[in-house]
Amino acid sequence: MKKTIEEHAARFSEVAPEYDESQDSDEYRACVSLVVHYADPSPDDVVLDLGTGTGAIALALAPDAKHVVGRDISEGMLEQARTKAAEVGIENVDFGEGRFRDPNVDADDVHTGSSETPQADARDARVDIVVSNFAMHHLSDEEKREAIQVVADLEPRRFVLGDVMFFGEPDPDEPFYSPEVDDPSTVGFLADALTDAGFVLTAVESVHEQVGVLVAERAPSFDEDTE
Ligand SMILES: C[S@@+](CC[C@H](N)C(=O)[O-])C[C@H]1O[C@@H](n2cnc3c(N)ncnc32)[C@H](O)[C@@H]1O
Repeated sequence: MKKTIEEHAARFSEVAPEYDESQDSDEYRACVSLVVHYADPSPDDVVLDLGTGTGAIALALAPDAKHVVGRDISEGMLEQARTKAAEVGIENVDFGEGRFRDPNVDADDVHTGSSETPQADARDARVDIVVSNFAMHHLSDEEKREAIQVVADLEPRRFVLGDVMFFGEPDPDEPFYSPEVDDPSTVGFLADALTDAGFVLTAVESVHEQVGVLVAERAPSFDEDTE
């Protein structure tokens, strides 16, 4: 990570009120719509959005999901997300502090109160789908590996990662990242990290030679297979 968590958080809190207006590139919009498309939650699904920012992905998915947990390090960005949710009357979202390598998600966060038995409560604590858009590139390769393992340990059935990522030779003069603060990985590195963590890649979408969406599904374990 080229900046500390605190520095990244302060940087995003400063721009939070103008963040949505500033995200006007075709590539960003394409990435958002691909992440939303591939996340494809069902009404019973709990979704975790890591690096949720002002909630673009979380709020787009909430109407189709049971519950959405948005996690970010920037209180300013989270405040914008909460305001937007209130403005449109979306109540099945919870925006709070959490980071890639410590998402701060527990049973209370994802329990929606609808279970009738303790066993159903435990089932409801699961995270079914994890999404992240334009956020993981702040982590170094090693930190991304750790973050992907943390996501895998939550045992979602799907992880949809939209981000700055290199399909070819990176060109630092291109507009999609700032070398002084960002640390994008190659698609090959991310694919390896995802498969090493037990995911199977089911789609790779290139939006631009430096922007893409990876869809990773959890390979069923032997136990699940034989249940
Ligand atoms: C470019 S914004 C993207 C926000 C949103 N996902 C979107 O698509 O508009 C990146 C976000 O990642 C957050 N972020 C950066 N490092 C993070 C970390 N280690 N854990 C969680 N969030 C992080 C920032 O605070 C910021 O809100």
